Amino acid sequence: MRTVLVIFLFVPVLLLAQDLDNVSPRQVDSSNVGAGKAQFQQTCGFCHGRDARGASGPDLIRSSLVSHDVNGNLIGPVVHKGRPEKGMPAFQLSDTQISNIAQYLHAQAKVAASVSQRIPSEYPVEKLLVGDAAAGQTYFNGHGNCFSCHSSTGDLAHIASKYKPFDLQTRIAFPSGLQPLLNVKDSSGQTFSGEQVYADEFLVTLRDKSNWVHTWKRNTVRVEVHDPLAAHEQLLKSYTDANLHDLFAYLETLR
Ligand code: HEC
Ligand code: HEC
Repeated sequence: MRTVLVIFLFVPVLLLAQDLDNVSPRQVDSSNVGAGKAQFQQTCGFCHGRDARGASGPDLIRSSLVSHDVNGNLIGPVVHKGRPEKGMPAFQLSDTQISNIAQYLHAQAKVAASVSQRIPSEYPVEKLLVGDAAAGQTYFNGHGNCFSCHSSTGDLAHIASKYKPFDLQTRIAFPSGLQPLLNVKDSSGQTFSGEQVYADEFLVTLRDKSNWVHTWKRNTVRVEVHDPLAAHEQLLKSYTDANLHDLFAYLETLR
């Protein structure tokens, strides 16, 4: 039983880890899903979440429109027309770009479905708790280096009440919802900083603290990127499954 649990618990994490290794927004692999993911994160992730699980805009993985879509036939019109009155702008993307995004969303939905079939969201927490909370605490404050950015009495206080166990488990490995921060210096030497709204090799857009959106041609400015989640991508490579189990057991005590 224990082995079976260990295997299926970490299927999502392994998939994510693989995903991250193969495709980051900076390094796109040749598959359409990879291209779709990069495009999605740049253009849509700000509102729908980097992983499409929703932020200010709705979760697209559980969307019935997306589940009925075939190769962009339903997603395309929403993207091209937008729903301006509801907060979704129109985007001029090519058919290939839409199709890639659609393939990415369908791939994400498939992963989510296969995971939730195995671990219903109401899965009893005791069964997820195969790790050792004390070891998790030691790792958190030691080798894991988590304490350098987090505190169990600060930002992560009550984290276990904030997320369902399965979501917490996923977030330890793959937190989402934060965009990279950009510092941009334009040709006149003026500097701007804020959250990335969009970036590709031609354009870069950020939203500053007063909520103004600025866009430049990429080749006319100098851009510095600080990805607040880069540390987590690095961490994924450094800790073992056992570390992750222990961390989860520890974070579950923060209620
Ligand atoms: C500025 C925020 C924003 C951006 C950027 C954005 N969306 Fe949306 N999107 C929304 C909001 C808000 C809705 C919900 C509209 C509504 O209530 O009908 C939505 C709805 C949708 C829907 C319909 C979901 C459903 O179940 O009805 C799809 C599909 C979608 N967006 C795809 C995309 C894609 C693909 C991109 C990137 C090319 C994108 N969106 C970019 C805000 C955004
Ligand atoms: C270099 C800084 C850094 C390190 C090191 C780091 N994190 Fe994070 N972590 C972040 C940032 C930034 C976020 C995103 C915060 C947010 O979403 O509000 C985050 C988010 C999280 C979240 C989700 C929080 C939420 O409210 O959604 C969890 C859980 C988490 N980290 C656990 C860990 C654990 C466990 C470790 C150690 C193994 C760790 N982090 C190490 C920077 C870091």
